[in-house]
Amino acid sequence: MTDPTEQQSKLVITRDGSHTVYSSQFEQHYHNPNGAVAESKHVFFEQSSLLDDIRSSNSVTILEVGFGTGLNFLLLMDYMREAGSESTIDFYSVEGFPISPHTVDNLNYDQHLNHPELADHLPVIFNELSDGMNDISITSNITLRLFNGLFEKFHPNNLQADYIFHDAFSPDVNPELWTGDTFKKLGNVSSSYAVLTTYCAASQAQGAMAWAGWKVAKTQGALGKREMIVASQSEEPLADFSRINEEHYARRYQEGDFD
Ligand SMILES: C[S@@+](CC[C@H](N)C(=O)[O-])C[C@H]1O[C@@H](n2cnc3c(N)ncnc32)[C@H](O)[C@@H]1O
Repeated sequence: MTDPTEQQSKLVITRDGSHTVYSSQFEQHYHNPNGAVAESKHVFFEQSSLLDDIRSSNSVTILEVGFGTGLNFLLLMDYMREAGSESTIDFYSVEGFPISPHTVDNLNYDQHLNHPELADHLPVIFNELSDGMNDISITSNITLRLFNGLFEKFHPNNLQADYIFHDAFSPDVNPELWTGDTFKKLGNVSSSYAVLTTYCAASQAQGAMAWAGWKVAKTQGALGKREMIVASQSEEPLADFSRINEEHYARRYQEGDFD
């Protein structure tokens, strides 16, 4: 019998040689076809102080929206191993439509890590997934808290993320993850100095974040993309970036200008 999940996932090689997946459900690739690994490193690791925290062995809580292939999680472990980091990491992630174990088995991320053996964690994670929250102890200091379900059903207790990896599909095909209410919810589960990064720079996303009380800045996007968003609920983490006029964007969002 055909596995319905498998029909929705097709592996594609991106321009840096790393795999992405094409989702026929959302009609979109999981990553930038110009380079999955290159994009993830740029957007989620190089535009915030996360790597400094890891290198200083600071404890960090991360919340990712969209676990997808698990690439961001693998890269995080690889950076930690490379730095000899002793950070305690709580990595929360939410995934409503997990890819099939067969697709996971064929991903080539081992070839793109400094520590290829870390990719062996992925099949174990996907094979053991239950509905709802899965608390998986990866090493003595890294815990993956993977919610297998829709973000709309994700109601964690006492979560105060330091970093948010907002890695949904784009707002046109995945609008529910880009609403003002979604960003309010993300604000409620973050510390006031948390930094949210996303590859997306759509005006509607900026408006939704501003409406939800985030301070919003733009910076150079990955792989020749002009812009991406960095946001925080405090001014300080954005001091080096160029801010938008949040009041103006929030008003436009409120008035339905981006609908
Ligand atoms: C761009 S991909 C994520 C890429 C991922 N971070 C990676 O490194 O491979 C977006 C992910 O969000 C998931 N998703 C979309 N809508 C969702 C929802 N409402 N709740 C939970 N997950 C959702 C998709 O299934 C997909 O895996």
